[in-house]
Amino acid sequence: MDQVKVFAPATVANVACGFDVMGFALEDIGDEIIVTKTDTPGLKITEITGCEGLPTEPEKNVATVAVQALLDSLQDKPSFGFQFKLSKNVTGGSGLGSSASSSAAAVFAVNKLLDEPFSRKELISFAMEGEKAASGHPHADNVAPSLLGGFTLVRGYTPLDVIELDYPEELFATIVHPQIEVKTSDSKKILKRQITLKDAVTQWGNVGGLVAGLAKGDYDLIGRSMKDVIAEPVRSILIPLFKEAKQSATDEGALGCSISGSGPSIFALSKGKSTADKVASAFRIIYESNEIDANVYISGINPIGAEVIK
Ligand code: HSE
Repeated sequence: MDQVKVFAPATVANVACGFDVMGFALEDIGDEIIVTKTDTPGLKITEITGCEGLPTEPEKNVATVAVQALLDSLQDKPSFGFQFKLSKNVTGGSGLGSSASSSAAAVFAVNKLLDEPFSRKELISFAMEGEKAASGHPHADNVAPSLLGGFTLVRGYTPLDVIELDYPEELFATIVHPQIEVKTSDSKKILKRQITLKDAVTQWGNVGGLVAGLAKGDYDLIGRSMKDVIAEPVRSILIPLFKEAKQSATDEGALGCSISGSGPSIFALSKGKSTADKVASAFRIIYESNEIDANVYISGINPIGAEVIK
């Protein structure tokens, strides 16, 4: 195989209470990459479409930074190189794991062209290097679901221990992306460095509750657990109409609603698509009536993660 085209999905990280540890993959929204073997070693980005201003220098672009980490870990270096054409569908600074989609797609594609020396799970640590290049912090809560699909939990970072979670089939996500940019690096900096024991107890109770609710298919428990007392109170200030959107999602019957990743996107989880549709309408009305441009998406949970496409 000399060329491969790969799709890696956008993701919702944190899932309310699971700051830097939980995430899930979306259907249809994501980045595509075409990777072609070249005669001589080295990485070259020849095209980036769908997003302006991204670096094409291999040492600066998250996709090639992730691939370089993969290549550095190989004992037998390939005698050939790789050329990349990246098609961005996930906007940077959206809170939907834009850098993670690119990094995940790139390492998944190169791994295929190398005849798969690494498992999907092993690719996570390489894709995390792309996250480090993007935000200064190698978090795995976007790259893990983008590579593995479904819901994932980073049980630990040292060493990396990613768990694929069971979840019920009828879950649907509604996302609203107000058209402003929030950089993950900035959104991380504004968080408090210390939290109270009371907040920690609340947060880890909710993470446990969310994992249990997903595994048992207990929708009520999922909803009760989608509470974030650590990041959301600070970050929501950066997001126009956050309170109104969250209230409307609850009014329409969503299980819970919070910030997607580091924002500004907001996500709600619902049982069944008809509720997710109602939440989408409510989101549209709120942003339209306030004359704020916003894109709204409805998505099931993507069970596959990164995949080869035609
Ligand atoms: N866990 C990261 C954060 C996700 O909340 O900063 C960024 O998409």
